[in-house]
Amino acid sequence: MELVDQLSRHQTIDAEALRALLLCQDTSVVSYLHAEARRVADQAYGRKVFVRGLLEVSNHCRNNCYYCGLRRDNRELRRYRLTTDTIVDCCKKAYTWGFRTFVLQGGEDPQQDDDWVVETVTRLRQLFPDCAITLSLGEKSRESYKRFREAGADRYLLRHETYNASHYQQLHPREMSQHHRLQCLGWLRELGFQTGCGMMVGSPGQTVDHLVEDLLYIHASRPAMVGMGPFLPHHATPFAHEPAGSVELTLRLISIVRLLLPEVLLPATTALGSLIPGGRLLGLKAGANVLMPNVSPSGAREAYALYDHKDAGAMTGPADWAALEKTLDEAGFELAVGRGDNLLYNTCPP
Ligand code: 5AD
Ligand code: SF4
Repeated sequence: MELVDQLSRHQTIDAEALRALLLCQDTSVVSYLHAEARRVADQAYGRKVFVRGLLEVSNHCRNNCYYCGLRRDNRELRRYRLTTDTIVDCCKKAYTWGFRTFVLQGGEDPQQDDDWVVETVTRLRQLFPDCAITLSLGEKSRESYKRFREAGADRYLLRHETYNASHYQQLHPREMSQHHRLQCLGWLRELGFQTGCGMMVGSPGQTVDHLVEDLLYIHASRPAMVGMGPFLPHHATPFAHEPAGSVELTLRLISIVRLLLPEVLLPATTALGSLIPGGRLLGLKAGANVLMPNVSPSGAREAYALYDHKDAGAMTGPADWAALEKTLDEAGFELAVGRGDNLLYNTCPP
């Protein structure tokens, strides 16, 4: 209890205390941690849950991350990319259901080049002046990010995956580096994006000490958003036979991040929802405040297979919106309509 109080009072904590909290076996302390995290989330945002319409714009990827089903060496995958017109149509529909944030997420697809991104963002910006546009398209040059920002993108999600450089190398081939990843996050911040970092929980080779490093990095860099979900194996990757991450540890990390950064936007992720039924709701109860329902066309949702048994959390019409509203209401939450900005960012539509 002492450790939890220390966290919620000072929003700062040393590595040893974080380590102890991650390893703690006392269920009453863990319950208290979740309750405190939820209290802090309520204090910042009330019972509101922000939703983002997720569009998986391409499953082509030039990278070969060892954990991901979209890696370029996976020849089994049926590859697709959405056109700007399809994306615009999806957003128009999702807007009528209530969405005011769209997330364009995709592999690093060389054919969806900077000009394509700029054109797509420009169209969305014109059509939806009251919406936030979030990109999650991987590592690009500073110049590319600058163009995306000038076209009207507000936010960028780029998980750091792991702060520990040697662990990063266990998860990625040599051509990728933690140094470049962090450099990208630095550029995004300088350019005025609300940035989101994050990591998988239970990825192969991950230790408690790595997670402590992640938490210290998150605390020091103060991102607007933090995306965390359990690692889940994909059969056509080098990590096919590695065990999945744990729900309990993911929930614990959600709560700790909420206490470290009270205003942070924290999604209850697709991976968490795929690991156990009701996983996303558990995430909200542990202090998360964002859901990212999938509004991609159905063929795309199936082919965007980062891991096996993905539960896309799809939304295909107004009835799905109403059903989510009801589920949240029954759990004492409120589905919020709006951009859902981090309270610390005073952003207005441009
Ligand atoms: N299990 C869980 N999460 C994964 N991601 C990629 N592959 C997996 C997997 N097998 C996550 C990574 C990446 C994001 C797009 O999805 O953290 O940043
Ligand atoms: Fe590509 Fe991202 Fe998958 Fe890595 S995690 S292979 S960059 S889609």
